[in-house]
Amino acid sequence: MTKKSEYTDDYPDKTLYIPGPTEVRDDVIQAMAQPMFGHRMDRMTDLYTTIVEDTKTFLGTDNDVIILTGSGTEFWEASTLNLVDENILVPTCGSFSERHANVAERLGKDVDRLEYEWGQAIKPEDIRAELESSDKHYDVVATVMNESSTGVRNPIEEIGDVVAEYPDTYFVVDAVSSLGGDYVDIDQHNVDVIFASTQKAFAMPPGLTVCVVSDDAYDREIEKESASWYGGFQRCLDYYDRKGQTHSTPAIPIMLAYRKQMKHMLEEGHDGRDQRHREMAEYTREWARDHFDMFPEEGYESQTVSCIENTQGIDVAGTIEEVSEKYDMVFSNGYGSALGEETFRIGHMGEHDVESIRTLTDAIEDVADL
Ligand SMILES: Cc1ncc(COP(=O)(O)O)c(C=O)c1O
Repeated sequence: MTKKSEYTDDYPDKTLYIPGPTEVRDDVIQAMAQPMFGHRMDRMTDLYTTIVEDTKTFLGTDNDVIILTGSGTEFWEASTLNLVDENILVPTCGSFSERHANVAERLGKDVDRLEYEWGQAIKPEDIRAELESSDKHYDVVATVMNESSTGVRNPIEEIGDVVAEYPDTYFVVDAVSSLGGDYVDIDQHNVDVIFASTQKAFAMPPGLTVCVVSDDAYDREIEKESASWYGGFQRCLDYYDRKGQTHSTPAIPIMLAYRKQMKHMLEEGHDGRDQRHREMAEYTREWARDHFDMFPEEGYESQTVSCIENTQGIDVAGTIEEVSEKYDMVFSNGYGSALGEETFRIGHMGEHDVESIRTLTDAIEDVADL
């Protein structure tokens, strides 16, 4: 049984290099400290329409944007309820894609997995083969862009191009740990639904999820009576059209932080953030290959989370603890019991740059005596 462990006002600040939450700028944190206002006031319309339209501009998409209180998990459920009548194909290559499949099963859908060994990437030709050979009609192909448990970046652009050959099959992308830090041309690659959580590469506090929805996905949901209420594309977007607000009371302070951070993101641009994240990923990979090895299949390494194979057999948990104690920096062990000590993960997303990643790798070198 879990016992209460009293929260105190006395915790040291730790710099976060975990796969989320990530570091948040001070002015973004401060933006939340405002007297409350009502979610049906004009001020709310100003706030919500600003963050929605700025997000479209940042992502360069003509599709619709929903910003909903909740975490990314919400859109595993909502996209399944909104788009899947019967069959969904979920390629699985790690814990989060597996969880996506599991959510769809719990919702009573007929789920076909296309299973990859952890560390391997999903291949577009396998998706094509499955869509061609299956006697089922798949309502949705659901793919994780960045499998945070293994540090694999799947080629969702090419997969989207394959799914585009099947006009009645919708393409859903979980980009929870990559959108904002890894460029994706949503409109060019038939991405019907793509969603992210604010606490990852957007570098905002947790509590909101962003979902970009194509016109086709919106129309499809209108046909379905069993669609999600809370995450219903139609309900969320129609409310926006009519009132410029959300259908229920949102996490207003986090939306204030969102507004502030999205201005920073617009200034840097989608390309600029992509470039900075690429540089961090390249630096981290090079460092990892000097001392260890990379866990993901070569050529498919994530731009936001490096999963490093512990070829030296260092004490991962002990190193994390000592780096935290001595340097006030936190990185992650491998995912779950299978990869816990076999790998470790460095989140290089959000506000970091190569210099700040180097301070972490220097600290690891010191503590692990590399
Ligand atoms: C790839 C991926 N999908 C989904 C989730 C779930 O997101 P959230 O915790 O915001 O619900 C995570 C969380 O880390 C993730 O990394």
